Amino acid sequence: TNTRKRNVTWQQGTVNLDNHASLKGHRGAVIWLTGLSGSGKSTVASELEKRLFRHHIHTFILDGDNLRHGLNRDLGFSQTDRKENVRRLGEVAKLFVDAGLVVIVAAISPFRIDREQARTLLPADRFFEVFLSCPLKVCEQRDSKGLYKKARAAEITDFTGISSPYEEPRDPEIIVKTDELSIDETVDTIWKKVMLRGFAA
Ligand code: PPS
Repeated sequence: TNTRKRNVTWQQGTVNLDNHASLKGHRGAVIWLTGLSGSGKSTVASELEKRLFRHHIHTFILDGDNLRHGLNRDLGFSQTDRKENVRRLGEVAKLFVDAGLVVIVAAISPFRIDREQARTLLPADRFFEVFLSCPLKVCEQRDSKGLYKKARAAEITDFTGISSPYEEPRDPEIIVKTDELSIDETVDTIWKKVMLRGFAA
């Protein structure tokens, strides 16, 4: 890469990943929730976090919508901006995993290639892509923020599912049909799959 040209070096710390893991009692991981607006990402993230918390697992939620108020406030919803949004979420998630946390990312993250890029930042057994599968029709009926209505009226452009694409994951670690399962059942499904792999320090 061009890091040498930019005079950027890597500063190696002395407290490493294993040290963080043994202090916390578990290793870090990313649980990446992807799906349409209204598919349940934020709700599932927060209920899943409660479950992990009850099991003494150190967590942090990176919600796409929330980070757009700060770190990502310069980004809109063009393909380029979404790509950058997801790149930053992936990099921040990686940092938190290095710190020993189980990070729950909740972002539409509509492009396959960008999610795959985020995946490459972490060891294969530390990344769980979770597809919250919910028909557009159902998300649109819920329309909890009234955004689909605005998108149909062309008051919002580049709206995912209406005027901007969503690429479904081809081989995610976990798929949950959020229109068929309750929040509890969804969290159970994710929890079981993640625990199967274990968090042992
Ligand atoms: S992305 O595609 O991953 O960069 O999007 P994300 O950071 O998750 O932000 C999605 C939330 O932004 C609101 N919003 C829009 N979503 C999609 N398309 C357009 N044009 C748009 N404009 C605003 C919306 O509230 C999304 O939140 P969720 O929780 O997904 O409904």
